[in-house]
Amino acid sequence: MRVCVIGTGYVGLVTGVCLAKIGHKVICVDNNEQKVKLMQSGQTPIYEPGLSELMQECMAAETLEFTTDLGYGVDNGDILFIAVGTPALPTGESDTRYVEAVARGIGTHLKDGYKVIVNKSTVPIGSGDWVRMIVLDGVAERQKAVVNAGGGDETMEITAQFDVVSNPEFLREGSAVYDTFNPDRIVLGSNSEKALAQMQKLYTPLVERTFADDKELPPVPIVLTDLSSAEMIKYAANSFLATKISFINEVANICDRVGADVVQVAKGIGLDTRIGTKFLQAGLGWGGSCFPKDVSALIHTSDDYGYDAELLKAAVMVNKRQRLIVLEKLQQELKILKGKVIGLLGLTFKPDTDDMRDAPALDLIEQLNRLGAKVKAYDPIVSQSGLSHGMSGVIVETDPERLADSCDALVLVTDWQQFLTLDYEKLAGLVNNPVIIDGRNFLDRAAAEQAGFRYVGIGH
Ligand SMILES: NC(=O)c1ccc[n+]([C@@H]2O[C@H](COP(=O)([O-])OP(=O)(O)OC[C@H]3O[C@@H](n4cnc5c(N)ncnc54)[C@H](O)[C@@H]3O)[C@@H](O)[C@H]2O)c1
Repeated sequence: MRVCVIGTGYVGLVTGVCLAKIGHKVICVDNNEQKVKLMQSGQTPIYEPGLSELMQECMAAETLEFTTDLGYGVDNGDILFIAVGTPALPTGESDTRYVEAVARGIGTHLKDGYKVIVNKSTVPIGSGDWVRMIVLDGVAERQKAVVNAGGGDETMEITAQFDVVSNPEFLREGSAVYDTFNPDRIVLGSNSEKALAQMQKLYTPLVERTFADDKELPPVPIVLTDLSSAEMIKYAANSFLATKISFINEVANICDRVGADVVQVAKGIGLDTRIGTKFLQAGLGWGGSCFPKDVSALIHTSDDYGYDAELLKAAVMVNKRQRLIVLEKLQQELKILKGKVIGLLGLTFKPDTDDMRDAPALDLIEQLNRLGAKVKAYDPIVSQSGLSHGMSGVIVETDPERLADSCDALVLVTDWQQFLTLDYEKLAGLVNNPVIIDGRNFLDRAAAEQAGFRYVGIGH
């Protein structure tokens, strides 16, 4: 099938590449010229395991191309994905201006023939109908322009036929390619049977697990629903996961006070299949480009409809406090932080990504600076890229030894796999005060202590 994906960020690029891999002809459109040039040269603008190789393979097979030309993408795509960002506004509501620009742009390029317009971006509930309206505005704009230019008369009508589908994305940064080929479910919301049928056809190879790691598994479940329910599914899923983490963090803080071990507690409750072991890792809180903005957006929508989402507000509040738990622990260990040097192991909000959006490390750096501490950091991806990611108040070191050298304490911020095998004995010899605050309860306490560190976990 002919697909156009508009927006080539973490979601759009992975979606485009994977759809090309499963046999579709894909055009990826982005309005960032620099990014498009980079992708046209075969390089990925983001770090995502396995993506670069797959992208080059599809480009070589001529099933994947990149352009800044939206008109070309619309003309040559039957299914048009909107995958642009929807960041949070200061009020917490979702900023839909990029979706609006793309929807209008699609409208101005629609010609005769049928298209399915797919909201892949996480958009506020009700956006499906709103996108339809904006696309029609774009169609009207073009029609007016054609008439004004003398290219037609008042009665000339552009017969744009399209339906809107909500197809929320559940991939996780760091395993986005794997998640796309091995989804837990596919959610499709629309009031058009025709559009839903096309979407099911598009996803057939994924549903049949042709590209899955385990091809013997039963077909991927598809949830066919209305637009609003599909949009709500995305917000509810992220809000649930964020709340689950806030819950275990709250339990961890109580564990700290009563002398229980949250790792054991999480295991003990997680083995109950009604609860499950995932998303029960206590630490310094959730972050990234999705959870914070999606929970805020759902709270905002609830407010708009006169409902006070108290549980979600509490989850946000607990998370805000949790991000600063490391400060408390550093103060307990070092007392005065003014004039101290703190070394952060990890910067990204989670391992295997270069995404720094709303990473807990950013809050930590700001607060440590405020208290007069100097902050250094080592992150496998950020240090390697040599990019500061717009960060201030932190010196990004090139390796863990340089990080540890003359630090007063280390804090593990991101659970990168590499951090399990560092030479902690050597690091302990370099740190002024060999204390490590494990913000993810990730390291082996006994091994860290044997290496010479005083180990401090979160409720552990
Ligand atoms: N990142 C994730 O893990 C994730 C997971 C699930 C859902 N989502 C949702 O998917 C959407 C996209 O997220 P992302 O992280 O990929 O965003 P992103 O910021 O990484 O990428 C957005 C891309 O859209 C491009 N863009 C903006 N305006 C454009 C326009 N008018 N025309 C063409 N391109 C344009 C930008 O240049 C950028 O490349 C968001 O709504 C997000 O909430 C993200």
